[in-house]
Amino acid sequence: MHRLLVTGGAGFIGSNFVHHLMAHTDAHVTVLDKLTYAASRESLAGLPADRVELVVGDIADAGVVEPLVAVHDAVVHFAAESHNDNSLDDPAPFIRTNLVGTFTILEAVRKAGTRLHHVSTDEVYGDLELDDPQRFTEATPYNPSSPYSASKAGSDHLVRAWVRSFGVHATISNCSNNYGPWQHIEKFIPRQITNVIDGGRPKLYGAGLNVRDWIHADDHSSAVWTILNEGRAGETYLVGADGEQNNLDVVQMILRHFGLPEDDFEHVTDRAGHDLRYAIDSTKLRSELGWQPAYGDFEAGLADTIEWYREHQDWWRPHKQATEASYAAKGQ
Ligand code: NAD
Ligand code: TYD
Repeated sequence: MHRLLVTGGAGFIGSNFVHHLMAHTDAHVTVLDKLTYAASRESLAGLPADRVELVVGDIADAGVVEPLVAVHDAVVHFAAESHNDNSLDDPAPFIRTNLVGTFTILEAVRKAGTRLHHVSTDEVYGDLELDDPQRFTEATPYNPSSPYSASKAGSDHLVRAWVRSFGVHATISNCSNNYGPWQHIEKFIPRQITNVIDGGRPKLYGAGLNVRDWIHADDHSSAVWTILNEGRAGETYLVGADGEQNNLDVVQMILRHFGLPEDDFEHVTDRAGHDLRYAIDSTKLRSELGWQPAYGDFEAGLADTIEWYREHQDWWRPHKQATEASYAAKGQ
């Protein structure tokens, strides 16, 4: 696994993965990224130029994808439209990138015989009740709620079909909610951190009782690297770090970190079809491949992330006004 093609490597998790590879492996990386609103060249700044190259292009364009896939040992496929709220406003790019884009990657790896790892989400399983003792496992039936999660579910089905029908050498991971550096400020945790830095208040959808299972993006990266190297072809692995928290508790942790009163937030219009709870059982990944997360304490990882956003205001500030204006127009 020396020459890797990383799609979506200028986005949140993809850029964390490239940083992880530079720190822990000797891999060479070509990032293929369309540089949508969600991407930033700055997220790859400072990485060794002789080991990381950025190609600006669309994963749904076979003319771009096929020659690149043919000269790499493996493809790690992160590129996607990734925000549920955007998928409710305009599903079209989700269908094109997440479905047609993944199809285009699959055809390219089929022709070239290249190893593929497909990065997906636990949201393909729908949601759990707050008091359900079960967590998602690899055997949980697919039941996606939003255009985003349905498009990711469809992309997973395409990968499975290409494995079974064409013998494509692919693995899939479905990970829980990520936090950490380089996450776009439209997403929950960086939105609230940057609101507070700007003197505003965190905005909770509905009552704030929805639960997400948080994992640091660097732990997701180590899981993807483990699966790429040790995973069995055709298998799916769930990735999670036992990080269940409800949104209200996360907001209160952020407020405490800044020394602000714990009720200094506001409730805003809830998301349509808002999934109640996600929770991952990652026993298969841990027991079969020996993976362990490094960030055991969510509140400590959150504190590091808050400091990162405090220290990198140049990275996010140019997008803050437009992001908040678009939320405000929806009462969020
Ligand atoms: P992101 O939105 O931050 O980044 C996505 C990247 O893909 C961007 O750099 C964007 O420019 C690029 N991209 C979008 N359309 C493209 C196209 N047509 N061609 C080429 N590049 C394109 O997303 P993220 O949060 O980093 O998520 C990355 C992957 O991880 C996605 O597949 C997502 O479904 C999955 N995932 C995310 C989470 C999470 O908590 N964020 C959790 C589990 C799985
Ligand atoms: P988000 O980061 O959009 O991730 P996902 O929808 O993939 O879980 O949202 C995480 C949780 O935070 C989700 O329950 C919606 C909620 N949320 C808020 O309460 N306020 C906000 O401003 C945002 C963006 C999300």
